[in-house]
Amino acid sequence: MQELLPGNCRLVPLTVRGDERGSLVAVEANREAPFPIARVYYLYGTGPRVTRGLHAHKELRQLAIPVAGSCTMLLDDGEGRASILLNDPAHGLLLPPMVWHEMSDFSADCVLMVLADAAYDEADYIRDYNDFLAAVR
Ligand code: TYD
Repeated sequence: MQELLPGNCRLVPLTVRGDERGSLVAVEANREAPFPIARVYYLYGTGPRVTRGLHAHKELRQLAIPVAGSCTMLLDDGEGRASILLNDPAHGLLLPPMVWHEMSDFSADCVLMVLADAAYDEADYIRDYNDFLAAVR
């Protein structure tokens, strides 16, 4: 059984199509990513003492996949917090709206790929933690 994560976050298992040549993982919209995919971005070359994220989204749904290396994701729904190690390219973390998240402890080789269901929109961000708490409580 998967441990329960805050804010209906969950780890999505991805099928690895491996053979003697290596591994291949496919992520399709409305399947492994349970939403239409409008945007892909990825973080890499992140310093070891850097914390990124530090926000919640009002509506955006995302799936974060550590395609290489590892990082830690802190998840906070205003009621509870959990830290999860992302280190398996065969699992994506589903990140629903209204979850405060912070990424840290990036390994030097970390490439964190994120699939999102909408284009970048600064108006969808809540970047102040107290504003986030006021909105979820
Ligand atoms: P930022 O929100 O600070 O990243 P993080 O949440 O990981 O700390 O984004 C860094 C910059 O990149 C900022 O100027 C906004 C821009 N950006 C885009 O233009 N498109 C995107 O899809 C994302 C995620 C960020």
